[in-house]
Amino acid sequence: MQDVLPEGGVIRKLWIGEADKYHDHVLRLDPESRHNRFAGSVSDEFVRKYVDLSISLDTVVHGFFIGGMLRAAAELRPLGMRFPRQAEAALSVEKPWQSHGVGSALLRRTLLTARNRGVELLHMACLAENRRMQQLARKFDAELSFDFGSVVGEVESSRPTPLSMMREFMADGHGFATAMLDLQSRMLRA
Ligand SMILES: CC(C)(COP(=O)(O)OP(=O)(O)OC[C@H]1O[C@@H](n2cnc3c(N)ncnc32)[C@H](O)[C@@H]1OP(=O)(O)O)[C@@H](O)C(=O)NCCC(=O)NCCS
Repeated sequence: MQDVLPEGGVIRKLWIGEADKYHDHVLRLDPESRHNRFAGSVSDEFVRKYVDLSISLDTVVHGFFIGGMLRAAAELRPLGMRFPRQAEAALSVEKPWQSHGVGSALLRRTLLTARNRGVELLHMACLAENRRMQQLARKFDAELSFDFGSVVGEVESSRPTPLSMMREFMADGHGFATAMLDLQSRMLRA
């Protein structure tokens, strides 16, 4: 399925050295979005430490960029050796870019990456009152069976296939090419 993103927006994996962009994005979230993202109220200090930890772990972060700014992100964090084939996913979209299909596109990419890494159980810490996230998850009910009581999503047909691997490689290649073109055009304008 083709992603419909706000004009000029691109989704790609975050590169090493982009922790600052990720900090800045999470710190820009409005209080309600930050509360929903972390399932509770957290300080700026907590956000900084959390992002540093995420970046240093085996986490895959997809970012939504527009005009060179990171405006939304989706994390896929494996739970480690004690819980093989399990991972945690979390999404954050800055308010002006919410309800424009960005969360859907990010969750689609995250599910593809999870599948290609053999993840069978995907945990999402979603507050019971977070209707928007629940609506979003329901759009993927062919791939995810959600139990919002225990906030665990099961990734259906989690086996990677040559086609699912190819889809991820192609998405990565497209994200890289678009980022390079964007950088080039901004350098020419400067
Ligand atoms: C939850 C969140 C990730 C959704 O991202 P988004 O970009 O707004 O989502 P989308 O635009 O792709 O919309 C997804 C679905 O949510 C529903 N939705 C969108 N806007 C909505 C609104 N204002 N009210 C209720 N439901 C809404 C719709 O069902 C929509 O699907 P549709 O457009 O096909 O009808 C985003 O709002 C967000 O970052 N919130 C704060 C942090 C958070 O809650 N994170 C989740 C915890 S892990």
